[in-house]
Amino acid sequence: MDVSLTRNFCIIAHVDHGKTTLSDRLLEHTRTVEQRVLTAQHLDAMDLERERGITIKSHPVTMNYPAKDGHVYKLNLMDTPGHVDFSYEVSRSLAACEGALLLIDAAQGVEAQTVANAHLAFSQNLKVIPVINKIDLPSANLELCTQQLEDILMIPAEEAILASGKSGIGIDDILEAVVKQIPPPRWHDHPHTRALVFDSLYDSYRGVIAYARVFSGSLKPGEHLQLMSTGLKSEIKEVGVFTPKMTKKPSLDAGDVGYIVSTIKDTAEINTGDTITTSIRPATEMLPGYQEVRPMVFCGIYPLESNDYEKLKAALGRLRLNDAAFVYQSESSLALGFGFRCGFLGLLHMEIIQERIRREHDVDIISTYPSVVYHVYPAGKDMIEVDNPVMLPDPSSIDEIHEPTIKASIHIPNTSMGDIMSLVMEKRGTIDHTDTLDASRIMLTCTLPLNEILVDFNDRLKSITRGYGSMDYELGDYRESDLVKMDILINGDPVDAFSTIVHREKAQGKGRELCEKLADIIPPQMFKVAIQAAIGGNVVARENVRVMRKDVTAKCYGGDITRKRKLLEKQKEGKRKMKLIGKVSIPPDAFIQVLKN
Ligand code: GTP
Repeated sequence: MDVSLTRNFCIIAHVDHGKTTLSDRLLEHTRTVEQRVLTAQHLDAMDLERERGITIKSHPVTMNYPAKDGHVYKLNLMDTPGHVDFSYEVSRSLAACEGALLLIDAAQGVEAQTVANAHLAFSQNLKVIPVINKIDLPSANLELCTQQLEDILMIPAEEAILASGKSGIGIDDILEAVVKQIPPPRWHDHPHTRALVFDSLYDSYRGVIAYARVFSGSLKPGEHLQLMSTGLKSEIKEVGVFTPKMTKKPSLDAGDVGYIVSTIKDTAEINTGDTITTSIRPATEMLPGYQEVRPMVFCGIYPLESNDYEKLKAALGRLRLNDAAFVYQSESSLALGFGFRCGFLGLLHMEIIQERIRREHDVDIISTYPSVVYHVYPAGKDMIEVDNPVMLPDPSSIDEIHEPTIKASIHIPNTSMGDIMSLVMEKRGTIDHTDTLDASRIMLTCTLPLNEILVDFNDRLKSITRGYGSMDYELGDYRESDLVKMDILINGDPVDAFSTIVHREKAQGKGRELCEKLADIIPPQMFKVAIQAAIGGNVVARENVRVMRKDVTAKCYGGDITRKRKLLEKQKEGKRKMKLIGKVSIPPDAFIQVLKN
Protein backbone atom coordinates (compact mmCIF):
# COMPACT_ATOMS: atom_id res chain seq x y z
CA MET A 1 0.00 0.00 0.00
CA ASP A 2 1.07 3.55 -0.78
CA VAL A 3 2.72 5.16 2.28
CA SER A 4 0.95 8.41 1.50
CA LEU A 5 -2.34 6.75 2.43
CA THR A 6 -1.20 5.78 5.94
CA ARG A 7 -1.77 7.90 9.05
CA ASN A 8 -0.34 7.06 12.48
CA PHE A 9 -1.91 8.86 15.41
CA CYS A 10 -2.78 8.56 19.05
CA ILE A 11 -5.28 10.00 21.49
CA ILE A 12 -3.97 11.91 24.46
CA ALA A 13 -6.03 13.23 27.37
CA HIS A 14 -6.28 13.71 31.08
CA VAL A 15 -7.77 10.64 32.84
CA ASP A 16 -11.49 10.20 32.32
CA HIS A 17 -11.75 12.74 29.55
CA GLY A 18 -13.18 10.00 27.37
CA LYS A 19 -10.31 8.39 25.48
CA THR A 20 -11.62 4.84 25.60
CA THR A 21 -15.16 5.81 24.64
CA LEU A 22 -13.95 7.86 21.68
CA SER A 23 -11.58 5.11 20.48
CA ASP A 24 -14.48 2.66 20.54
CA ARG A 25 -16.54 5.04 18.47
CA LEU A 26 -13.74 5.36 15.89
CA LEU A 27 -13.47 1.56 15.67
CA GLU A 28 -17.21 1.30 15.21
CA HIS A 29 -17.33 4.00 12.56
CA THR A 30 -14.59 2.38 10.49
CA ARG A 31 -16.29 -1.01 10.97
CA THR A 32 -13.29 -2.39 12.78
CA VAL A 33 -15.50 -3.10 15.73
CA GLU A 34 -17.20 -6.25 14.51
CA GLN A 35 -13.82 -7.89 14.48
CA ARG A 36 -13.21 -6.53 17.94
CA VAL A 37 -16.30 -8.26 19.27
CA LEU A 38 -15.22 -11.48 17.63
CA THR A 39 -11.80 -11.18 19.19
CA ALA A 40 -13.24 -10.76 22.65
CA GLN A 41 -15.19 -13.97 22.28
CA HIS A 42 -12.24 -15.74 20.79
CA LEU A 43 -10.08 -14.68 23.69
CA ASP A 44 -12.47 -16.13 26.24
CA ALA A 45 -11.61 -19.57 25.04
CA MET A 46 -7.91 -19.06 25.56
CA ASP A 47 -5.72 -19.64 28.51
CA LEU A 48 -6.84 -17.19 31.18
CA GLU A 49 -3.41 -15.82 31.88
CA ARG A 50 -2.80 -15.10 28.28
CA GLU A 51 -6.06 -13.28 27.97
CA ARG A 52 -5.18 -11.12 30.93
CA GLY A 53 -1.75 -10.30 29.60
CA ILE A 54 -3.29 -8.97 26.44
CA THR A 55 -6.30 -7.13 27.82
CA ILE A 56 -4.36 -5.33 30.53
CA LYS A 57 -2.16 -3.70 27.96
CA SER A 58 -4.41 -2.27 25.33
CA HIS A 59 -2.72 -2.39 21.98
CA PRO A 60 -2.69 -0.37 18.79
CA VAL A 61 -5.26 -1.01 16.13
CA THR A 62 -5.29 -0.64 12.36
CA MET A 63 -8.46 0.74 10.77
CA ASN A 64 -9.40 1.27 7.14
CA TYR A 65 -11.18 4.53 6.48
CA PRO A 66 -12.78 5.49 3.17
CA ALA A 67 -12.28 9.26 3.22
CA LYS A 68 -14.35 11.88 1.45
CA ASP A 69 -11.54 12.35 -1.09
CA GLY A 70 -12.28 8.86 -2.45
CA HIS A 71 -9.16 7.14 -1.10
CA VAL A 72 -9.14 4.41 1.51
CA TYR A 73 -6.68 5.30 4.25
CA LYS A 74 -4.94 2.98 6.66
CA LEU A 75 -5.23 4.56 10.12
CA ASN A 76 -3.08 3.22 12.93
CA LEU A 77 -4.44 4.30 16.29
CA MET A 78 -1.95 3.90 19.11
CA ASP A 79 -2.74 3.66 22.75
CA THR A 80 -0.81 5.75 25.24
CA PRO A 81 -0.58 5.17 28.97
CA GLY A 82 -2.16 8.22 30.56
CA HIS A 83 -0.15 8.79 33.69
CA VAL A 84 2.98 10.69 34.47
CA ASP A 85 4.78 7.62 35.85
CA PHE A 86 4.80 6.39 32.31
CA SER A 87 5.76 9.64 30.62
CA TYR A 88 8.71 8.00 28.89
CA GLU A 89 6.39 5.29 27.55
CA VAL A 90 3.96 8.01 26.47
CA SER A 91 6.73 9.84 24.69
CA ARG A 92 7.76 6.62 22.87
CA SER A 93 4.17 5.96 21.78
CA LEU A 94 4.01 9.53 20.53
CA ALA A 95 7.31 9.13 18.72
CA ALA A 96 5.70 6.30 16.77
CA CYS A 97 3.03 8.68 15.42
CA GLU A 98 2.84 11.76 13.25
CA GLY A 99 -0.18 13.26 14.98
CA ALA A 100 -2.31 13.26 18.12
CA LEU A 101 -5.91 13.94 19.01
CA LEU A 102 -5.89 15.99 22.18
CA LEU A 103 -9.14 15.37 24.07
CA ILE A 104 -10.53 17.90 26.49
CA ASP A 105 -13.57 17.16 28.60
CA ALA A 106 -15.97 20.03 27.85
CA ALA A 107 -17.12 20.14 31.46
CA GLN A 108 -13.67 19.90 33.08
CA GLY A 109 -11.51 21.93 30.76
CA VAL A 110 -7.75 21.68 30.47
CA GLU A 111 -6.12 19.77 33.35
CA ALA A 112 -2.59 18.95 34.43
CA GLN A 113 -2.15 15.87 32.26
CA THR A 114 -3.77 17.61 29.27
CA VAL A 115 -0.96 20.13 29.41
CA ALA A 116 1.79 17.59 30.11
CA ASN A 117 0.67 15.31 27.28
CA ALA A 118 0.22 18.21 24.87
CA HIS A 119 3.76 19.37 25.59
CA LEU A 120 5.10 15.87 25.03
CA ALA A 121 3.30 15.81 21.66
CA PHE A 122 4.64 19.23 20.66
CA SER A 123 8.15 18.21 21.62
CA GLN A 124 7.86 15.22 19.27
CA ASN A 125 6.79 17.61 16.49
CA LEU A 126 3.40 15.98 16.16
CA LYS A 127 0.42 17.61 14.56
CA VAL A 128 -1.97 18.12 17.47
CA ILE A 129 -5.69 18.16 16.71
CA PRO A 130 -7.71 19.53 19.64
CA VAL A 131 -11.04 17.82 20.31
CA ILE A 132 -13.48 19.21 22.84
CA ASN A 133 -15.26 16.07 23.96
CA LYS A 134 -18.45 15.29 25.91
CA ILE A 135 -20.24 18.32 24.47
CA ASP A 136 -23.51 16.49 25.14
CA LEU A 137 -23.07 17.20 28.86
CA PRO A 138 -25.36 19.92 30.20
CA SER A 139 -22.39 21.29 32.15
CA ALA A 140 -20.24 21.61 29.00
CA ASN A 141 -18.55 25.00 28.83
CA LEU A 142 -17.26 25.46 25.30
CA GLU A 143 -16.29 29.05 25.74
CA LEU A 144 -14.05 28.22 28.69
CA CYS A 145 -12.44 25.30 26.85
CA THR A 146 -11.62 27.27 23.72
CA GLN A 147 -10.27 30.11 25.83
CA GLN A 148 -8.03 27.68 27.74
CA LEU A 149 -6.85 26.13 24.47
CA GLU A 150 -5.62 29.52 23.33
CA ASP A 151 -4.28 30.77 26.65
CA ILE A 152 -2.66 27.65 28.04
CA LEU A 153 -1.76 25.56 25.02
CA MET A 154 -1.46 28.30 22.38
CA ILE A 155 -3.75 26.39 20.03
CA PRO A 156 -6.10 28.60 17.94
CA ALA A 157 -9.68 28.06 19.12
CA GLU A 158 -11.02 27.58 15.59
CA GLU A 159 -8.96 24.39 15.20
CA ALA A 160 -11.01 22.63 17.87
CA ILE A 161 -13.40 19.88 16.82
CA LEU A 162 -16.54 19.58 18.93
CA ALA A 163 -17.39 15.98 19.71
CA SER A 164 -19.08 13.51 21.97
CA GLY A 165 -17.78 9.98 22.14
CA LYS A 166 -20.97 9.01 23.86
CA SER A 167 -23.52 10.28 21.37
CA GLY A 168 -21.29 10.02 18.31
CA ILE A 169 -21.17 13.76 17.50
CA GLY A 170 -18.14 14.88 15.50
CA ILE A 171 -16.72 11.42 14.72
CA ASP A 172 -16.75 12.07 10.96
CA ASP A 173 -15.02 15.41 11.46
CA ILE A 174 -12.34 13.75 13.55
CA LEU A 175 -11.60 11.06 10.96
CA GLU A 176 -11.47 13.64 8.15
CA ALA A 177 -9.13 15.84 10.22
CA VAL A 178 -6.82 12.85 10.85
CA VAL A 179 -6.56 12.21 7.12
CA LYS A 180 -6.22 15.86 6.08
CA GLN A 181 -4.14 17.37 8.85
CA ILE A 182 -1.81 14.61 10.04
CA PRO A 183 1.15 14.12 7.72
CA PRO A 184 1.88 10.73 6.12
CA PRO A 185 4.67 8.59 7.66
CA ARG A 186 7.98 10.45 7.97
CA TRP A 187 11.51 9.17 7.28
CA HIS A 188 10.20 6.32 5.10
CA ASP A 189 12.94 6.71 2.51
CA HIS A 190 15.86 6.21 4.92
CA PRO A 191 18.28 3.71 3.31
CA HIS A 192 18.20 1.18 6.18
CA THR A 193 15.48 -0.65 8.04
CA ARG A 194 14.57 1.12 11.27
CA ALA A 195 11.64 0.36 13.59
CA LEU A 196 10.82 1.90 16.95
CA VAL A 197 9.86 -0.44 19.81
CA PHE A 198 7.11 1.29 21.78
CA ASP A 199 5.91 -1.61 23.92
CA SER A 200 6.37 -5.31 24.48
CA LEU A 201 4.40 -8.15 25.86
CA TYR A 202 5.25 -11.60 27.13
CA ASP A 203 3.32 -14.54 25.81
CA SER A 204 3.92 -17.91 27.41
CA TYR A 205 3.79 -19.67 24.03
CA ARG A 206 5.60 -17.27 21.77
CA GLY A 207 7.97 -15.46 24.10
CA VAL A 208 8.38 -11.71 23.77
CA ILE A 209 6.10 -9.91 21.35
CA ALA A 210 7.50 -6.49 20.49
CA TYR A 211 5.16 -3.72 19.34
CA ALA A 212 6.91 -1.59 16.80
CA ARG A 213 6.46 1.19 14.29
CA VAL A 214 8.46 0.60 11.14
CA PHE A 215 9.89 3.88 9.84
CA SER A 216 11.87 2.60 6.86
CA GLY A 217 12.73 -0.67 5.14
CA SER A 218 10.88 -3.83 6.14
CA LEU A 219 10.94 -6.75 8.57
CA LYS A 220 10.11 -10.29 7.45
CA PRO A 221 9.97 -13.70 9.12
CA GLY A 222 13.14 -15.71 8.50
CA GLU A 223 15.36 -12.60 8.58
CA HIS A 224 17.41 -11.63 11.61
CA LEU A 225 16.67 -8.45 13.50
CA GLN A 226 19.21 -6.53 15.51
CA LEU A 227 18.55 -4.28 18.51
CA MET A 228 20.59 -1.13 18.15
CA SER A 229 21.08 -0.35 21.87
CA THR A 230 22.60 -3.73 22.72
CA GLY A 231 23.50 -5.30 19.39
CA LEU A 232 21.39 -8.36 20.27
CA LYS A 233 20.43 -10.42 17.20
CA SER A 234 17.39 -12.63 16.91
CA GLU A 235 15.55 -14.51 14.20
CA ILE A 236 12.15 -13.07 13.27
CA LYS A 237 9.47 -15.75 13.60
CA GLU A 238 6.34 -13.82 12.78
CA VAL A 239 5.18 -10.30 12.02
CA GLY A 240 1.69 -8.86 11.81
CA VAL A 241 -0.74 -6.06 12.53
CA PHE A 242 -3.58 -5.52 14.98
CA THR A 243 -7.05 -5.67 13.50
CA PRO A 244 -7.35 -5.48 16.59
CA LYS A 245 -6.50 -9.15 17.03
CA MET A 246 -2.97 -10.05 16.02
CA THR A 247 -3.09 -10.85 12.33
CA LYS A 248 -0.07 -12.39 10.60
CA LYS A 249 1.42 -10.59 7.58
CA PRO A 250 4.21 -11.54 5.21
CA SER A 251 6.11 -8.38 6.19
CA LEU A 252 5.95 -5.10 8.09
CA ASP A 253 6.84 -2.16 5.86
CA ALA A 254 7.62 1.54 6.17
CA GLY A 255 4.80 3.36 7.96
CA ASP A 256 3.33 0.18 9.47
CA VAL A 257 2.53 -0.34 13.11
CA GLY A 258 2.51 -3.98 14.17
CA TYR A 259 4.05 -6.75 16.20
CA ILE A 260 7.18 -8.85 15.89
CA VAL A 261 7.72 -12.29 17.37
CA SER A 262 11.33 -13.40 17.45
CA THR A 263 13.48 -15.82 19.38
CA ILE A 264 13.81 -13.33 22.27
CA LYS A 265 12.40 -14.91 25.43
CA ASP A 266 12.95 -12.27 28.08
CA THR A 267 11.27 -8.84 28.05
CA ALA A 268 14.30 -7.44 29.82
CA GLU A 269 16.26 -7.93 26.58
CA ILE A 270 14.10 -5.59 24.58
CA ASN A 271 13.56 -2.03 25.77
CA THR A 272 10.90 0.49 24.94
CA GLY A 273 12.43 3.16 22.75
CA ASP A 274 15.02 0.88 21.18
CA THR A 275 15.50 0.79 17.42
CA ILE A 276 15.20 -2.50 15.55
CA THR A 277 17.20 -2.88 12.38
CA THR A 278 18.18 -5.91 10.29
CA SER A 279 21.42 -7.74 11.08
CA ILE A 280 22.27 -8.20 7.41
CA ARG A 281 22.22 -4.45 6.62
CA PRO A 282 22.21 -2.71 9.99
CA ALA A 283 21.45 1.00 10.26
CA THR A 284 24.15 3.12 11.84
CA GLU A 285 21.98 5.71 13.53
CA MET A 286 19.22 4.97 16.02
CA LEU A 287 15.83 6.64 15.90
CA PRO A 288 15.99 9.62 18.26
CA GLY A 289 15.05 9.74 21.92
CA TYR A 290 16.13 6.37 23.33
CA GLN A 291 16.56 6.31 27.10
CA GLU A 292 17.13 3.45 29.43
CA VAL A 293 14.28 3.48 31.95
CA ARG A 294 15.33 3.23 35.54
CA PRO A 295 13.12 2.64 38.54
CA MET A 296 12.79 5.72 40.73
CA VAL A 297 10.79 4.47 43.69
CA PHE A 298 11.58 1.39 45.78
CA CYS A 299 9.83 -0.48 48.56
CA GLY A 300 9.95 -3.85 50.28
CA ILE A 301 7.07 -6.21 49.53
CA TYR A 302 6.46 -9.08 51.98
CA PRO A 303 3.82 -11.79 52.14
CA LEU A 304 1.43 -11.41 55.06
CA GLU A 305 1.57 -15.18 55.56
CA SER A 306 5.13 -16.39 55.44
CA ASN A 307 4.11 -19.57 53.61
CA ASP A 308 2.94 -17.40 50.70
CA TYR A 309 6.57 -16.54 49.92
CA GLU A 310 6.84 -18.87 46.92
CA LYS A 311 3.51 -17.70 45.60
CA LEU A 312 4.64 -14.08 45.85
CA LYS A 313 7.91 -14.92 44.12
CA ALA A 314 6.02 -16.53 41.24
CA ALA A 315 3.68 -13.52 41.01
CA LEU A 316 6.57 -11.05 40.80
CA GLY A 317 8.23 -13.20 38.15
CA ARG A 318 5.12 -13.12 36.00
CA LEU A 319 4.61 -9.38 36.42
CA ARG A 320 8.24 -8.77 35.50
CA LEU A 321 7.80 -10.68 32.25
CA ASN A 322 5.33 -8.11 31.01
CA ASP A 323 6.88 -5.06 32.50
CA ALA A 324 10.54 -4.43 31.99
CA ALA A 325 10.37 -1.24 34.07
CA PHE A 326 9.57 -3.22 37.21
CA VAL A 327 12.51 -4.81 39.05
CA TYR A 328 12.82 -6.92 42.18
CA GLN A 329 15.29 -8.91 44.22
CA SER A 330 14.95 -10.92 47.40
CA GLU A 331 15.62 -9.36 50.78
CA SER A 332 14.79 -10.24 54.34
CA SER A 333 13.75 -8.18 57.28
CA LEU A 334 13.86 -8.97 60.97
CA ALA A 335 10.36 -7.65 61.42
CA LEU A 336 8.68 -8.90 58.27
CA GLY A 337 10.58 -12.06 57.37
CA PHE A 338 11.46 -12.98 53.79
CA GLY A 339 10.32 -10.75 50.96
CA PHE A 340 11.48 -8.65 48.03
CA ARG A 341 12.89 -5.22 47.34
CA CYS A 342 10.99 -3.85 44.36
CA GLY A 343 11.62 -0.87 42.08
CA PHE A 344 9.03 1.13 40.16
CA LEU A 345 8.85 4.09 37.79
CA GLY A 346 6.73 6.04 40.25
CA LEU A 347 3.98 5.80 42.80
CA LEU A 348 1.18 4.91 40.44
CA HIS A 349 3.26 2.15 38.94
CA MET A 350 3.90 0.86 42.48
CA GLU A 351 0.21 0.91 43.32
CA ILE A 352 -0.72 -0.89 40.12
CA ILE A 353 1.79 -3.67 40.72
CA GLN A 354 0.73 -4.09 44.37
CA GLU A 355 -2.89 -4.22 43.35
CA ARG A 356 -2.17 -6.80 40.67
CA ILE A 357 -0.29 -9.01 43.15
CA ARG A 358 -3.31 -8.93 45.44
CA ARG A 359 -6.03 -9.29 42.85
CA GLU A 360 -4.62 -11.38 40.07
CA HIS A 361 -2.20 -13.47 42.02
CA ASP A 362 -4.22 -13.63 45.22
CA VAL A 363 -1.34 -12.99 47.61
CA ASP A 364 -1.87 -10.75 50.64
CA ILE A 365 1.11 -8.47 50.96
CA ILE A 366 2.49 -5.69 53.10
CA SER A 367 4.86 -3.12 51.74
CA THR A 368 7.39 -0.94 53.55
CA TYR A 369 7.60 2.82 53.17
CA PRO A 370 8.53 3.77 49.65
CA SER A 371 11.98 5.21 49.20
CA VAL A 372 13.66 7.08 46.38
CA VAL A 373 17.18 6.43 45.07
CA TYR A 374 19.70 8.58 46.91
CA HIS A 375 23.12 9.47 45.57
CA VAL A 376 25.49 9.01 48.47
CA TYR A 377 29.04 10.35 48.30
CA PRO A 378 31.27 8.59 50.82
CA ALA A 379 34.43 10.54 51.71
CA GLY A 380 37.11 9.91 49.11
CA LYS A 381 35.12 7.25 47.27
CA ASP A 382 32.82 7.06 44.24
CA MET A 383 29.13 7.83 44.48
CA ILE A 384 26.88 4.92 45.45
CA GLU A 385 23.16 4.64 44.88
CA VAL A 386 21.07 3.77 47.93
CA ASP A 387 17.42 2.76 47.58
CA ASN A 388 17.03 1.08 50.97
CA PRO A 389 17.63 3.10 54.15
CA VAL A 390 19.10 0.02 55.81
CA MET A 391 21.96 0.15 53.30
CA LEU A 392 23.03 3.71 54.06
CA PRO A 393 26.69 3.69 55.13
CA ASP A 394 27.78 5.03 58.50
CA PRO A 395 27.03 8.78 58.52
CA SER A 396 30.53 9.67 59.67
CA SER A 397 31.91 8.27 56.41
CA ILE A 398 29.52 10.27 54.19
CA ASP A 399 30.45 13.57 52.58
CA GLU A 400 27.15 14.39 50.93
CA ILE A 401 23.77 12.88 50.15
CA HIS A 402 21.83 14.03 47.09
CA GLU A 403 18.14 13.40 46.54
CA PRO A 404 16.02 13.43 43.35
CA THR A 405 13.66 16.32 42.75
CA ILE A 406 10.63 16.73 40.53
CA LYS A 407 9.17 19.60 38.56
CA ALA A 408 5.46 19.59 39.28
CA SER A 409 2.69 21.51 37.60
CA ILE A 410 -0.27 21.77 39.89
CA HIS A 411 -3.65 23.01 38.63
CA ILE A 412 -5.92 24.33 41.37
CA PRO A 413 -8.90 26.61 41.97
CA ASN A 414 -7.47 29.97 43.03
CA THR A 415 -9.36 29.80 46.32
CA SER A 416 -6.99 26.96 47.39
CA MET A 417 -3.85 28.93 46.61
CA GLY A 418 -2.90 29.67 50.23
CA ASP A 419 -3.37 26.12 51.47
CA ILE A 420 -1.51 24.60 48.55
CA MET A 421 1.39 27.00 49.02
CA SER A 422 1.63 25.91 52.66
CA LEU A 423 1.52 22.28 51.58
CA VAL A 424 4.35 22.83 49.10
CA MET A 425 6.44 24.58 51.77
CA GLU A 426 5.74 21.82 54.28
CA LYS A 427 7.02 19.35 51.73
CA ARG A 428 10.25 21.31 51.32
CA GLY A 429 9.25 22.58 47.90
CA THR A 430 9.59 25.91 46.16
CA ILE A 431 7.09 27.58 43.87
CA ASP A 432 8.92 28.63 40.74
CA HIS A 433 6.05 30.46 39.08
CA THR A 434 2.32 30.95 39.10
CA ASP A 435 0.18 31.23 35.98
CA THR A 436 -3.44 32.22 35.74
CA LEU A 437 -5.39 29.70 33.70
CA ASP A 438 -8.77 31.45 33.75
CA ALA A 439 -10.99 33.41 36.11
CA SER A 440 -11.04 30.62 38.68
CA ARG A 441 -7.98 28.44 38.15
CA ILE A 442 -4.26 28.81 38.47
CA MET A 443 -1.24 26.67 37.69
CA LEU A 444 1.72 26.48 40.04
CA THR A 445 5.05 25.25 38.79
CA CYS A 446 7.02 23.86 41.71
CA THR A 447 10.21 22.03 42.49
CA LEU A 448 9.83 19.40 45.20
CA PRO A 449 11.93 16.54 46.54
CA LEU A 450 10.49 13.32 45.05
CA ASN A 451 10.65 11.72 48.49
CA GLU A 452 8.16 14.23 49.88
CA ILE A 453 5.39 13.49 47.41
CA LEU A 454 5.63 9.72 47.83
CA VAL A 455 3.17 9.25 50.61
CA ASP A 456 0.27 11.64 50.87
CA PHE A 457 0.88 14.61 48.61
CA ASN A 458 -1.73 13.78 46.01
CA ASP A 459 -4.36 12.88 48.62
CA ARG A 460 -3.80 16.15 50.43
CA LEU A 461 -3.94 18.08 47.16
CA LYS A 462 -7.26 16.45 46.37
CA SER A 463 -8.70 17.08 49.81
CA ILE A 464 -7.60 20.71 49.97
CA THR A 465 -9.09 21.39 46.53
CA ARG A 466 -12.14 19.16 47.13
CA GLY A 467 -11.11 17.04 44.19
CA TYR A 468 -10.64 19.94 41.76
CA GLY A 469 -6.86 20.00 41.88
CA SER A 470 -4.67 17.94 39.58
CA MET A 471 -0.96 17.42 39.34
CA ASP A 472 1.57 16.20 36.88
CA TYR A 473 5.31 15.95 37.28
CA GLU A 474 8.52 15.18 35.52
CA LEU A 475 11.79 14.24 37.10
CA GLY A 476 14.20 17.03 37.85
CA ASP A 477 17.83 16.90 38.91
CA TYR A 478 19.55 15.58 42.04
CA ARG A 479 20.25 18.11 44.79
CA GLU A 480 22.28 17.99 47.94
CA SER A 481 20.20 17.87 51.09
CA ASP A 482 20.70 17.46 54.84
CA LEU A 483 19.41 13.92 55.06
CA VAL A 484 19.78 11.45 57.88
CA LYS A 485 18.81 7.89 58.56
CA MET A 486 16.31 7.52 61.35
CA ASP A 487 15.95 4.16 63.11
CA ILE A 488 13.17 3.01 65.35
CA LEU A 489 14.43 1.07 68.36
CA ILE A 490 12.26 -1.20 70.41
CA ASN A 491 13.87 -1.90 73.75
CA GLY A 492 17.14 -0.76 72.23
CA ASP A 493 16.97 -2.96 69.11
CA PRO A 494 16.50 -1.33 65.69
CA VAL A 495 13.52 -2.54 63.67
CA ASP A 496 14.67 -2.53 60.06
CA ALA A 497 11.22 -2.22 58.48
CA PHE A 498 10.81 1.22 60.03
CA SER A 499 14.18 2.75 59.12
CA THR A 500 13.76 5.79 56.89
CA ILE A 501 15.89 8.48 55.35
CA VAL A 502 14.48 11.86 56.32
CA HIS A 503 15.44 15.49 56.25
CA ARG A 504 17.12 16.38 59.52
CA GLU A 505 14.53 19.03 60.34
CA LYS A 506 11.70 16.59 59.93
CA ALA A 507 13.23 13.73 61.87
CA GLN A 508 11.84 14.64 65.23
CA GLY A 509 8.26 15.13 64.12
CA LYS A 510 8.25 11.97 62.08
CA GLY A 511 10.01 10.03 64.85
CA ARG A 512 7.45 11.10 67.40
CA GLU A 513 4.58 10.17 65.14
CA LEU A 514 5.98 6.67 64.56
CA CYS A 515 6.75 6.06 68.24
CA GLU A 516 3.26 7.11 69.27
CA LYS A 517 1.67 4.85 66.72
CA LEU A 518 3.78 1.89 67.78
CA ALA A 519 3.17 2.47 71.49
CA ASP A 520 -0.50 2.41 70.72
CA ILE A 521 -0.39 -0.78 68.71
CA ILE A 522 2.08 -2.92 70.65
CA PRO A 523 0.13 -4.76 73.37
CA PRO A 524 1.12 -4.28 77.02
CA GLN A 525 4.30 -6.14 77.88
CA MET A 526 5.50 -7.92 80.98
CA PHE A 527 8.24 -5.37 81.57
CA LYS A 528 8.91 -1.77 80.66
CA VAL A 529 9.68 -1.33 76.98
CA ALA A 530 10.92 1.86 75.36
CA ILE A 531 10.19 2.77 71.76
CA GLN A 532 12.69 5.30 70.49
CA ALA A 533 13.44 7.13 67.29
CA ALA A 534 17.15 7.69 66.89
CA ILE A 535 19.57 9.31 64.48
CA GLY A 536 22.89 7.60 64.92
CA GLY A 537 23.27 7.53 68.72
CA ASN A 538 20.87 10.44 69.33
CA VAL A 539 17.38 9.67 70.53
CA VAL A 540 14.96 12.21 69.06
CA ALA A 541 11.66 10.79 70.33
CA ARG A 542 10.55 8.24 72.90
CA GLU A 543 7.41 6.48 74.10
CA ASN A 544 6.81 3.62 76.53
CA VAL A 545 4.73 0.53 76.01
CA ARG A 546 2.23 -0.11 78.78
CA VAL A 547 3.28 -2.71 81.37
CA MET A 548 0.93 -5.47 82.32
CA ARG A 549 1.30 -8.86 83.81
CA LYS A 550 -1.27 -11.35 82.79
CA ASP A 551 -1.49 -14.46 84.88
CA VAL A 552 -3.59 -16.80 82.86
CA THR A 553 -3.75 -19.36 85.63
CA ALA A 554 -5.00 -16.92 88.25
CA LYS A 555 -8.56 -18.04 87.90
CA CYS A 556 -7.70 -21.70 88.31
CA TYR A 557 -7.57 -22.03 92.03
CA GLY A 558 -8.13 -25.56 93.26
CA GLY A 559 -6.16 -28.47 92.09
CA ASP A 560 -7.11 -28.91 88.41
CA ILE A 561 -3.61 -29.37 87.09
CA THR A 562 -4.67 -30.48 83.60
CA ARG A 563 -6.70 -27.34 83.05
CA LYS A 564 -3.76 -25.25 84.26
CA ARG A 565 -1.42 -27.01 81.88
CA LYS A 566 -3.80 -26.53 78.97
CA LEU A 567 -3.97 -22.82 79.59
CA LEU A 568 -0.20 -22.55 79.80
CA GLU A 569 0.16 -24.49 76.54
CA LYS A 570 -2.28 -22.17 74.88
CA GLN A 571 -0.39 -19.15 76.05
CA LYS A 572 2.83 -20.62 74.73
CA GLU A 573 1.28 -21.15 71.33
CA GLY A 574 0.10 -17.58 71.28
CA LYS A 575 3.63 -16.46 71.95
CA ARG A 576 5.06 -18.44 69.10
CA LYS A 577 3.02 -16.41 66.65
CA MET A 578 4.55 -13.21 67.96
CA LYS A 579 7.63 -11.68 66.40
CA LEU A 580 10.49 -11.37 68.79
CA ILE A 581 12.36 -8.10 68.62
CA GLY A 582 15.04 -8.49 71.22
CA LYS A 583 13.08 -9.63 74.25
CA VAL A 584 9.87 -7.97 73.18
CA SER A 585 7.16 -10.00 71.53
CA ILE A 586 5.10 -8.10 69.03
CA PRO A 587 2.14 -9.36 67.04
CA PRO A 588 3.13 -9.31 63.36
CA ASP A 589 0.16 -7.18 62.42
CA ALA A 590 1.54 -4.35 64.56
CA PHE A 591 4.05 -3.69 61.78
CA ILE A 592 1.37 -3.89 59.21
CA GLN A 593 -0.86 -1.45 61.03
CA VAL A 594 1.94 1.07 61.33
CA LEU A 595 3.06 0.69 57.73
CA LYS A 596 -0.48 0.91 56.45
CA ASN A 597 -0.95 4.54 57.25
P1 GTP B 1 -9.07 6.53 31.44
O1 GTP B 1 -8.80 5.35 30.58
O2 GTP B 1 -9.38 6.18 32.86
O3 GTP B 1 -8.08 7.62 31.29
O4 GTP B 1 -10.44 7.16 30.95
P2 GTP B 1 -10.77 7.54 29.49
O5 GTP B 1 -10.14 8.85 29.16
O6 GTP B 1 -10.52 6.41 28.58
O7 GTP B 1 -12.31 7.83 29.64
P3 GTP B 1 -13.54 6.86 29.35
O8 GTP B 1 -13.78 6.72 27.90
O9 GTP B 1 -13.40 5.64 30.15
O10 GTP B 1 -14.70 7.79 29.91
C1 GTP B 1 -14.72 8.27 31.24
C2 GTP B 1 -16.16 8.54 31.65
O11 GTP B 1 -16.72 9.57 30.84
C3 GTP B 1 -17.07 7.34 31.46
O12 GTP B 1 -17.98 7.33 32.53
C4 GTP B 1 -17.78 7.60 30.15
O13 GTP B 1 -19.05 7.04 30.10
C5 GTP B 1 -17.87 9.12 30.17
N1 GTP B 1 -17.85 9.66 28.80
C6 GTP B 1 -16.94 9.41 27.84
N2 GTP B 1 -17.23 10.11 26.72
C7 GTP B 1 -18.35 10.82 26.99
C8 GTP B 1 -19.14 11.74 26.23
O14 GTP B 1 -18.88 12.07 25.08
N3 GTP B 1 -20.22 12.28 26.86
C9 GTP B 1 -20.55 11.97 28.13
N4 GTP B 1 -21.63 12.55 28.66
N5 GTP B 1 -19.84 11.11 28.87
C10 GTP B 1 -18.73 10.54 28.32
